[in-house]
Amino acid sequence: MNNIKRIAISTGGGDAPGLNAVIHAAVYAARNRGWEIVGIRDGLDGLLDPESYPDGGLMKLTRGVVRDIAHLGGTILGTSNRGNPFNQPGGSNRAEILIQRFQQHKLDALISVGGDGTLSIARELNERGLRVVGVPKTIDNDLESTMTTFGFDSAVSFATECIDRLHFTAESHRRVMVVEVMGRYAGWIALHTGIAGRADAILIPEIPYHMTKIAAHVKRKTASRSRQYSIIVVAEGAKPVNGEVTLKEAANTGHVERLGGVGEIVAGQLHELTGKETRSVVLGHLLRGGQPTSLDRSLGLIFGAAAVRALAEGQDGVMVAVNPPRIDYVPLKEATAKLKRVPADGYAVTTARTLDISFGD
Ligand code: F6P
Repeated sequence: MNNIKRIAISTGGGDAPGLNAVIHAAVYAARNRGWEIVGIRDGLDGLLDPESYPDGGLMKLTRGVVRDIAHLGGTILGTSNRGNPFNQPGGSNRAEILIQRFQQHKLDALISVGGDGTLSIARELNERGLRVVGVPKTIDNDLESTMTTFGFDSAVSFATECIDRLHFTAESHRRVMVVEVMGRYAGWIALHTGIAGRADAILIPEIPYHMTKIAAHVKRKTASRSRQYSIIVVAEGAKPVNGEVTLKEAANTGHVERLGGVGEIVAGQLHELTGKETRSVVLGHLLRGGQPTSLDRSLGLIFGAAAVRALAEGQDGVMVAVNPPRIDYVPLKEATAKLKRVPADGYAVTTARTLDISFGD
C-alpha cells in the first residue's frame, strides 16, 4: 500500500542516551516488514559527502548489526551538530543534492532522529518531496508537542548522582558548591536534579534570579548548625533579573549559539556576598554520555518502533510524540514550533518551594 522497500535512518544534533535504542527498534520493525534499512553517517553528512567515508557514508543495518546496541550510549551512526546545512552558502543546492542522493540510493523514506534543528532540516526535505517521519531527541525535555523524550531521565539521574557526591565534599569543607547543568533555554534538568539532589537553590531560565536573595537564603540556611554548606544548581540558560544569558565565546561554535559559564559567575558573586568559600562545577557533556537508564532505553524503543509503524500507515511529514496513553503524529511544522518551558507555578516548582529551595525570586 505504501510502496516502501528501503528506508534510511539518521541521527542529528547533540547525542542523547537512548539513540541506539531507537535505531535498534527501527531496524527490527523495518526488517520484520521485509524493508531494507540503512543508516546515514553523521546526521546527513554521509549522503552529502560520501567520499569522506570508506563505506560511502551509508551503513547497512541488519538485525545482527543492531542486536546488542539498545543499552549503549551515543549513536552507532555518529551525529553532527554544525547547524542547518541549508542555511549556509549554497544551501538550497545542497537540499537538491540530498534529494537526488535519496533517489539514487532508492531510499523511499527517512526516519530523522533529532532535536529542533534536525527536525527543521527534515521538514525542508519533506517539503521537497521526501517522505519523512521524525523522532524527537533532546536531553533538555523542551519540546512542547511530546510529553517526553529519551535522554532526559539519564541526564537527571546522572546529575543527581553527581550532586549526591558533592554533598560529602561540600559538607567536609563547609563550602557553597555551584553546579551548572545543560538544558538550553529550559530549566527542566536543573529543576528535577535540584529537587532530587536536595539543593538549597535552583536557578532556571524561566525564573530570573536576584543574586542578593540567593545570598540571603544561603546565609540563613548555613547559619543553622545542622547544615553549614550549600548546593546551588544552575541551569546553563539561567539569568539574573534584567540580565542576559551567559554565552560561550563564538569560536568553534558553527552557527549554533552555545550557552555556558553562568555557574562560575554565580559562584564568584556568592563568594562576594556571603564571604563563604565557593566552588563551581560544570557537568556539561557528562550528562549526554553514558548508558541510557531503563526508562530512556524503553522510550527509545517505543519511538523507533512507532516511527516505522507511522511510515507503514502512510504517515508523512510528521513527528512521533509520546503522550501517554497515546502515540501522536504531529506535523513537523508544529512539532518544533514551541519550546516547552518550566511553568513557574507548576507542581515541581511548588514542591521545591515547599522544601525551602530558593529560586532567587
Ligand atoms: O540540546 C542538548 C544540549 O546538550 C544542550 O543542553 C546544550 O546546550 C547543547 O546541546 C550543547 O551542544 P554541543 O554538543 O554542541 O556542545
